[in-house]
Amino acid sequence: MFRRLRDDPRAAVTIELDGETLTALEGDTVAAAMLTAGVGHTGATPVGGKARLPYCMMGVCFDCLMEIDGVPNRQACLVRVRDGMKVRRQSGAIGPVE
Ligand code: FES
Repeated sequence: MFRRLRDDPRAAVTIELDGETLTALEGDTVAAAMLTAGVGHTGATPVGGKARLPYCMMGVCFDCLMEIDGVPNRQACLVRVRDGMKVRRQSGAIGPVE
């Protein structure tokens, strides 16, 4: 379980994960918001469907691929949240990774 080290003065934003509402802080990446909210997983492996979570948090491992605002294969660790953003879990990479 992840938690913030101290009270954070940043403004709260609301995002939607697979239809459920989550609160994040302005400037968080989507991956950080997911981990801080305690979601069980951010996606699944294409073979076997095992849960996957962000690993490197710096754009290297691609374990954080999610559909963000209708665009699949976005690296959740590199995209910052914004109010009203819609995020969906995905299973592996969908189509060619850009
Ligand atoms: S967590 Fe490794 S690329 Fe996003």
